Amino acid sequence: MSCWKKLALLESLACTDHFTAIGSVLRLHRLDPDWQLPVRKQFDDHRKGNRFMTDATVRAKLLGLPGSLRSNSNSLAILRGLQDALPAGVSMDIRDLRLPLYDQDIDTPDAPAEVHSFRQAIADADGVVIVTPEYNYGMPGVLKNALDWASRPYGKSALIGKPVLVISNSPAFTGGVRAHQQVNDTLLALPAKLLAGPQVVVGSVGEKIKDGKLADEAVLKFALSAIDRLSAAK
Ligand SMILES: Cc1cc2nc3c(=O)[nH]c(=O)nc-3n(C[C@H](O)[C@H](O)[C@H](O)COP(=O)(O)O)c2cc1C
Repeated sequence: MSCWKKLALLESLACTDHFTAIGSVLRLHRLDPDWQLPVRKQFDDHRKGNRFMTDATVRAKLLGLPGSLRSNSNSLAILRGLQDALPAGVSMDIRDLRLPLYDQDIDTPDAPAEVHSFRQAIADADGVVIVTPEYNYGMPGVLKNALDWASRPYGKSALIGKPVLVISNSPAFTGGVRAHQQVNDTLLALPAKLLAGPQVVVGSVGEKIKDGKLADEAVLKFALSAIDRLSAAK
């Protein structure tokens, strides 16, 4: 039996009876040792509480955008922590916002390649996660610049109707809430599909990062519940 046929059989069994499926894995595995690797991965996913993954069970492909270019950025660390903790079926690419300054004179079909690839990355994502610090009571220029590029072409922006989750953070207890508000206003101008519900605002962020990643269980849990709503909003 081909590997794909075995996987299909396994998945149909998994839908009906988890224990039957495990028995089948073990039997098929004994019959065909070179089938071991793909089965083991599916098996490990299942033991970790994930469901058997096929294209049909991929729930959402997200794009993470940190509002800071700093290599040690807390905003980037939050995205990395979330990336590691995403539920089965949800994935997230992270890309920085290193783009030229917005200039309408170069916003033409011949715009710089990084502008095209940035817009394409948004178009390809089911949802966007923006994690921003606060600069001088507002959103960083880097993020505003990126949102201005993303907002065009007028009426055809890849962000129109796109589900977006905004997370702000700060070493201060205020958690960058003023930047959060500005990002929300800009997204509403497009309009993107701004995720409603409890706002994710991370204060005293320095204490919540370990080894370059968000490590605070309570914040992770709260942010992941917002990611769940984002994944469902596509
Ligand atoms: C130019 C500048 C302005 C800042 N203004 C604020 C501010 O208004 N409110 C605040 O909470 N933090 C402010 N900070 C502190 C940033 O929140 C802090 O440096 C944060 O770590 C930057 O984000 P990052 O770690 O993602 O790079 C400012 C930092 C800079 C560099």
